[in-house]
Amino acid sequence: MVDVTGQYRRYQREIDESILEVVRSGAYINGPAVKNFERSVEAYLGVKHAIGCASGTDALQIALMALGVGPGDEVITTTFTFVATTETIALLGATPVYVDIDPKTFNLDVTQIQEKITPRTRAIIPVHLFGQPCDITAVMEIANQNGLSVIEDAAQALGATWDGHKVCGFGAISAISYYPSKNLGAFGDAGMMVTNDDVLAERIRSIANHGANKTYHHDRLGVNSRLDSIQAAILGVKLKYLDEWNATRARAASLYSKLFAAHANKIQTPFVDPRAESIWHQYSLLIHGDRDTLAAKLKTAGVPHNIYYPIPLHLQPAYAAYGTRQGDFPVAEHTAKHILALPMHSELTDEDVEYIADRVIEAISS
Ligand SMILES: Cc1ncc(COP(=O)(O)O)c(C=O)c1O
Repeated sequence: MVDVTGQYRRYQREIDESILEVVRSGAYINGPAVKNFERSVEAYLGVKHAIGCASGTDALQIALMALGVGPGDEVITTTFTFVATTETIALLGATPVYVDIDPKTFNLDVTQIQEKITPRTRAIIPVHLFGQPCDITAVMEIANQNGLSVIEDAAQALGATWDGHKVCGFGAISAISYYPSKNLGAFGDAGMMVTNDDVLAERIRSIANHGANKTYHHDRLGVNSRLDSIQAAILGVKLKYLDEWNATRARAASLYSKLFAAHANKIQTPFVDPRAESIWHQYSLLIHGDRDTLAAKLKTAGVPHNIYYPIPLHLQPAYAAYGTRQGDFPVAEHTAKHILALPMHSELTDEDVEYIADRVIEAISS
């Protein structure tokens, strides 16, 4: 599905040197590599503050903590995402309130947000799923009208644009993941929070550092979540190539879609909103018919594939306490049964894509 070592092989000398520099320096925590990478991301995104942390999950949790979300609060989000989005809300004692998804983009259905707002609603976490921005204009409008904060879950979408602007600059805070298989991946766990708000930035830095603004002076409840210097050094090298890698992914995506175009009765190719530029974190098809039989045939043919996500969050046993049940979010439930992702990464060649597409077409035709 993903070739995580391919990028390393291409830039091995540069990456090795950046790692050794940290090792030799002894500045393993919050050293210059972290500061440099934070400044590079600020420049890349055109934002005021980028603050490293240990993972995308931590980035969401710290963002919620910085906004003061806690017990009794409600946070509106999508039921069709990676569990971290909802896990962090629940861990802080707040209640995740789900909305269904748009059947074309798989992003949250913005027309359902307003009806979910109650006096307890504090925030909205829209997810830019699979690398495609959600309709963040609509989300911001609803949030502003109702005095709610927005945390963009941009774990899968670093570099994607909406209306010509990079995501992460719309909400109060955004969360980025540098998990190894992300478009910009570290060699372990790593994450980042982004904001244009000076006060929030200071609060985020403090929460990520045990709630301290000064060593051994703890003003608030915090956590230990730092971006490792070695990971920052690696990411600093890789960031320079991100746009090029994203362009390779876009090329692969458009070739896949072209090859599947004659099979639209059986395969729905990804829809990209004209206002969005996706970074193609995933290339996910919707299979009209029996997805699991197709997946089994692909397995036999040795074609990698995966299902993001087989169970929407409102149907996960861990979240049963929030009172949602089968049938509550029919689009997400249908999508979970019919979605199928094909290999997507920066090392894919046209030949790879053609081979994979041929196997898929054979499998749906047999
Ligand atoms: C949508 C989404 N949110 C949050 C996360 C959490 O990021 P991490 O794995 O870095 O903790 C991920 C990562 O897979 C994700 O895809």
